[in-house]
Amino acid sequence: MAKQTKVAESARSANEGKALLTGSALYEEAALRRRTLMSRMKKNSIALLSAAPQRTRSHDTEYTYRQDSDFYYLSGFTEDDAVLALIPGRTQGEVVLFCQPKDKLKELWNGTLTGPQLAKATLLIDDAYPITEIDTILPGLMDERTSIYTCMGRENRFDERVMQWLKTVRSKVRQGANPPTEFVMLDPLIHEMRLFKSKGEIALMQEAADISARAHKRAMLAANAGRYEYHLEAELLHEFMMSGSRAPAYNSIVAAGANACILHYINNNQPLRNGDLVLIDAGCEYEYYAADITRTFPVSGRFSKEQKALYDIVLKAQLEAIKVMRPGVIRDEPHNVTVRVITEGLVELGLLVGKPADLIKSAAYRDFYMHGAGHWLGIDVHDAGTNQKAGASRPLEAGMVMTIEPGIYIALDNKKVPKKWRGIGIRIEDDVLITRTGNRVLTSAVPKTTEEIEALMALRIPS
Ligand code: GLY
Ligand code: MN
Ligand code: MN
Repeated sequence: MAKQTKVAESARSANEGKALLTGSALYEEAALRRRTLMSRMKKNSIALLSAAPQRTRSHDTEYTYRQDSDFYYLSGFTEDDAVLALIPGRTQGEVVLFCQPKDKLKELWNGTLTGPQLAKATLLIDDAYPITEIDTILPGLMDERTSIYTCMGRENRFDERVMQWLKTVRSKVRQGANPPTEFVMLDPLIHEMRLFKSKGEIALMQEAADISARAHKRAMLAANAGRYEYHLEAELLHEFMMSGSRAPAYNSIVAAGANACILHYINNNQPLRNGDLVLIDAGCEYEYYAADITRTFPVSGRFSKEQKALYDIVLKAQLEAIKVMRPGVIRDEPHNVTVRVITEGLVELGLLVGKPADLIKSAAYRDFYMHGAGHWLGIDVHDAGTNQKAGASRPLEAGMVMTIEPGIYIALDNKKVPKKWRGIGIRIEDDVLITRTGNRVLTSAVPKTTEEIEALMALRIPS
């Protein structure tokens, strides 16, 4: 017990010295983001954003609350039942927050509420009102504004409320009201901004990556025949939470044997068997930023000949893809590299027959590698931002973070290949920051070559 307390304390103090994007630093950066966003909005417009609603898990219990990513990005505010209004050029104040009022009884049951007064004092906003007054105040903020920006189609209930406020303004035309005349999608403006990570965001992502790297190593050290997939999931969660992460960034995938061929396997309830590989795809969320790491390793601690042959193809594909990532290279290029290396490798092993160029053209490799090489990463694990610009794959730019995660999956029922290859699934995934001159792998602390993995696993205490 004493030892555990010490670990928790050291995790806390490890973060204390770091200038992380939380508290007042976060509020300042959110204010800057709002100014940028407002400078990109049409003249005489208003943007409306809703906090994420609470979601029921069962009967009267809810899932752990998590703020909407865009709302958090623009406010740093983490309570539900809130609305943010951005009104560029409004002389009485451009940024107005509606949030839950202080409420002694509610706070007794569920914890402290910030309340409008403290929100206005800390969040660097112009005004804050109780959410209970929004139906009276918001139509007035819409009046005389030509365009309404919202993330339409995200939360039906919020969409309906926006319409209701619009109706209220329209009902006052005879008294001189001048209602908005158009709706504009807000998401693309925010999402283009979110693609480019600031120094503060990168520091948080590095923290999420470091915690997740420790978690993967912990799980490798805990693997043993006879244990279950969920035992390794428990090791991951332990490391996440002991390090101050409050949740995984997505449901952890712990897939032993042929389960690794299910791309988003989450049952995690099967036994680990000697001779099988385990694929773990897991990352924590730290202060709202995600890590996303996959490693594949043998339960026994030693790769078989077939496993190593396939593993080394995936590893080569991943390393070569990362090598080409720098500003100016199109986003599809790393994917194209993985397709080429994997196809060539499968031909060499005799698992695909033909010329690699033809097999790529006919997409024959998709029997083994059926997903893209990666995605943007940030506040969401599959982060916001378009993959294309002007109808073509967009160039990579400094500040973007993208995963690179090629894989080879040979289904148990793939009768086209000899039996010894079937039921093997391998994926290797890292998080890559594009820098001005090239890239930096945020997740390099996890062993990746077969030699490194076998060396770490040799340190396991025999069970
Ligand atoms: N963890 C989900 C993914 O890699 O996309
Ligand atoms: Mn991923
Ligand atoms: Mn992943």
